[in-house]
Amino acid sequence: MLSTLPWFSNRFPLYLAPMAGVSDKIFRQLCKEHGADILTTEFVSAEGIFRRNQRTREYLDFDEIERPIGVQLFGADPEHMAEAARQVIDWVAPDFIDLNFGCPVNKVVTKNGGSALLKDCPALASVAAAVVRAVAPMPVTAKIRIGWDADSINAPHVARILFDAGIAAITVHGRTRAQGYAGAADWDTIAEVAAAVSIPVIGNGDLASASDIAKRCHETRIAGAMIGRAAMSAPWVFSQTKHYFATGEIPDAPELSERWNLIVRHCQLAVRQRGAEEPAMRSMRARLMAYSRAMPDAKRLREKFSHVSALAEVETIAEENILCSENETSQKREIPVLVSS
Ligand SMILES: Cc1cc2nc3c(=O)[nH]c(=O)nc-3n(C[C@H](O)[C@H](O)[C@H](O)COP(=O)(O)O)c2cc1C
Repeated sequence: MLSTLPWFSNRFPLYLAPMAGVSDKIFRQLCKEHGADILTTEFVSAEGIFRRNQRTREYLDFDEIERPIGVQLFGADPEHMAEAARQVIDWVAPDFIDLNFGCPVNKVVTKNGGSALLKDCPALASVAAAVVRAVAPMPVTAKIRIGWDADSINAPHVARILFDAGIAAITVHGRTRAQGYAGAADWDTIAEVAAAVSIPVIGNGDLASASDIAKRCHETRIAGAMIGRAAMSAPWVFSQTKHYFATGEIPDAPELSERWNLIVRHCQLAVRQRGAEEPAMRSMRARLMAYSRAMPDAKRLREKFSHVSALAEVETIAEENILCSENETSQKREIPVLVSS
């Protein structure tokens, strides 16, 4: 497989999934520290680019350390998408442009964007070709779902169209638009797509651990993997996977104190960026809920996180959780051995 994207030569790159409201600059950098190879911004509307409003600028903002990074665009009009991509390149010069052909949200699909284009292959081909032409030699990639619904699964066909349009790599989320996030990702169709085109295909959907990723890597011809929700609870999934690929051994999750350090640092960075503690911590609640999944005593943590509004509260919760877990471990060690008389 030949690729214009250098990160596919001789390695199996791990992508952090674009996730609106989640994969912001802070989270992307935390994942990069924990081994993510390729980052993508959350999706940005082509129309928003034209308006150049503050919100759009925030979505596009990244630091040099995040390279290679792509900006993901959505929209349905080929000329608008092409012009928006050109403006993004002038504005922030990413390493690639990614086209969103998978978003299931009504607000997007009713305007024929995101996954709606899977139902209209000529329009999808026009958007892809227009952007590729407009920004060459900047690579353009695409992210698709496997189809609109169970009766119209067409990802291998769509992949060939995208290949013909000059797309450099394709990420496939193994669900239909109709599924949303329900049901299991269909890895058979992802495998079909990977076999159908000679550009890199990145598999995505339900990859929750190093062994999941290794299994899919061995069973299919995917050239890379993209991890979304699992990274929200365990950003170290990237480094664990790399360790597994290198040694064949799955390392333990980081020590509990290290996990808490990461969570507290995420909060500190959010507060610093927002410049106001209370609103920053309120908007961290959903993120803390996601982190709780990889922590002991998750249920109690979720209750506490649901009304957190200060950094110091998270620090106290961390101390209590570490202490509690240490006590439990030492109690288990102290269980007396019954000696039969
Ligand atoms: C909160 C959230 C926001 C998302 N936003 C985007 C987005 O902006 N662009 C996109 O292509 N996919 C988006 N997705 C889909 C993910 O990129 C990914 O395809 C999906 O979560 C499946 O991967 P996973 O099972 O590893 O989570 C989003 C998913 C979630 C959970």
